[in-house]
Amino acid sequence: MDGSQKDKLRGIISSTIIFECSLKKYTSFSIGGPAECLILLDKKDELQPLLRLCSLENLPWHVIGRGTNVLVKDEGFAGVIIVLGKEFKEIHPGETRDGKKRSLMAGAGHSLTRLSALCSDYGFSGLEFGAGIPGTLGGSLVMNAGAWGGEMGQIVTEVTIETAAKKIQVTGEQLDFGYRHWQGFAKYKGQGVVTGATLLLESGAPEEIATTCRVLLKKRKESQPVHFPNAGSFFKNPAGDSAGRLIDSCGLKGMRVGGAMVSTVHGNFIVNRDHATARDVLKLMDKIKKTVKESKGIDLEPEVHFI
Ligand code: EPU
Repeated sequence: MDGSQKDKLRGIISSTIIFECSLKKYTSFSIGGPAECLILLDKKDELQPLLRLCSLENLPWHVIGRGTNVLVKDEGFAGVIIVLGKEFKEIHPGETRDGKKRSLMAGAGHSLTRLSALCSDYGFSGLEFGAGIPGTLGGSLVMNAGAWGGEMGQIVTEVTIETAAKKIQVTGEQLDFGYRHWQGFAKYKGQGVVTGATLLLESGAPEEIATTCRVLLKKRKESQPVHFPNAGSFFKNPAGDSAGRLIDSCGLKGMRVGGAMVSTVHGNFIVNRDHATARDVLKLMDKIKKTVKESKGIDLEPEVHFI
């Protein structure tokens, strides 16, 4: 990125811009080299000008959310990393026209954990599974995040996507979600940013919803690592089986490469045990894949996205 491009960015963005920004602080893995530029984008009306500028100047960009499901390479990212801030955290609780269901319009920058807590305050049921999922609403839609039998695709009715040129409301058949995947988003990849969504929820008793959230959080804390930085489940579950169970039954828990380790709590978590590099994680990933393939005949596919 040259000086004139930096000036142009400063000219259109009023919030924080950090050049040569280490991404360790912005990922739950605490791993990764520097981004040429990181923007904490607070203002909604600056997103489209930013996307237009990136397109004109051929600057790659990526929305990182809360950095919870990503592994950033040690070389870093030659482009603009966008974190959606203040104005992407609006929230409008409501109900359907017939008054039978509850609806929640929310900005993409909210964490799912926070949204799930707000839902229990409002007496809105359906997002309890999100308690403890640290990622943003936007990220959770793009990858159809889920837990305990619930997933985003079951409750979303409309998604707002903004590109350099327009704002699109995506509904109906285009909301075609699969396991940890939103097919319909593929055509916007690299061009569009999820900026908000509407969720369709049931009415419920706040106390009961809060209790369910507490129970699920407790289960999560008991079965998943909480003491070391990680990126959540590392691999997708293969059809009909569990990546964690497979990795565990291959005896790989506790295996280390450099500072990266297969969690001793849950086999499908790679943890940053001690100043791990992305290279450590990738080497460990390859070893896990190779062992599981050789002993179980199954190809594990990463759930974590690489930047
Ligand atoms: N298991 C083992 N050993 C292990 C880990 C798991 O034997 O080391 C067994 C468990 O005993 C259980 C089975 O494998 O019988 C499944 O494990 P678990 O209940 O922990 O669920 P999971 O399939 O590993 C999925 C999601 C999690 C989500 C949990 C709870 C994926 C890849 N992972 O995990 O999502 O929290 O269910 O619903 O779908 C995430 O996506 O980042 C994530 C954490």
